[in-house]
Amino acid sequence: MARSALLNVMVNAATKAGRGLARDFGEVENLQVSVKGPADFVSAADHRADEVLIAELTKARPGYAFLTEETGTVEGTDKTHRWIIDPLDGTTNFLHGIPIFAISIGLEREGQIVAAVVFNPVTNELYVAERGAGAFLNDRRLRVAKRNELADAVIATGIPNRGRKGHAEFNKELPHLMQRTAGIRRCGAASIDLAWVAAGRFDGYWERGLKAWDIAAGLLLVEEAGGIVSDIDGGKNMLGDGSVVAGNNAIHKALRGELVAAHGA
Ligand code: IPD
Ligand code: CA
Ligand code: CA
Repeated sequence: MARSALLNVMVNAATKAGRGLARDFGEVENLQVSVKGPADFVSAADHRADEVLIAELTKARPGYAFLTEETGTVEGTDKTHRWIIDPLDGTTNFLHGIPIFAISIGLEREGQIVAAVVFNPVTNELYVAERGAGAFLNDRRLRVAKRNELADAVIATGIPNRGRKGHAEFNKELPHLMQRTAGIRRCGAASIDLAWVAAGRFDGYWERGLKAWDIAAGLLLVEEAGGIVSDIDGGKNMLGDGSVVAGNNAIHKALRGELVAAHGA
């Protein structure tokens, strides 16, 4: 697959930041046994990755704005482009030595995500997509899974942890979906959940309480792999609302229907 100049820029930045994260991930194991644990170290790794991404992308595309989890908003002179970045999605996994985390970069042009990179530097899985040009995993074209029945489907989700909102809603949705699917999974990295829907590993995915940087890239991966994404109300305000339902046409519809049913509506 011949990659566009834009995707090359994004992949180069992700690769460079990924080298640092992979090195730091190797250190985390040694720190597990210390009394303080690796929390401060991981937070520093997260910030370093953020800085590398901002520096590399600014070098290649001066003037583009940023929204990153660690730096927040950086205004740009170019009012039409904005990078939406999570330098380390799956922090809890990283902290616990679980190799399921990713750098997530989405490029927004006039309000629409047009290019996406999700990169796990430990497994070396590189997911890329550009609007209208398909989604790829390490140069292999991706298609969402073909299963049409929720009863046969493996569905990923996110579980709100201590201190997060949405426990009551989730406690209605999970038992409802448990009884209607072949299995529920919780990866711990929203960008990877969406990338795995694009790759056909998961048949669907839903989660609430997300931020734009968790999902900007992953949403485009799913769409470019032929899938459907929406917010839980069926609209297109995923980035603003922080909720997502994803899958092929049939699974998206069925999953959303059951989420509504779970609340007795
Ligand atoms: C988190 C992960 C997780 C999701 C959380 C996110 P972080 O991002 O994507 O899967 O359930 O809502 O905050 O904190 O690891 O960057
Ligand atoms: Ca995240
Ligand atoms: Ca993060």
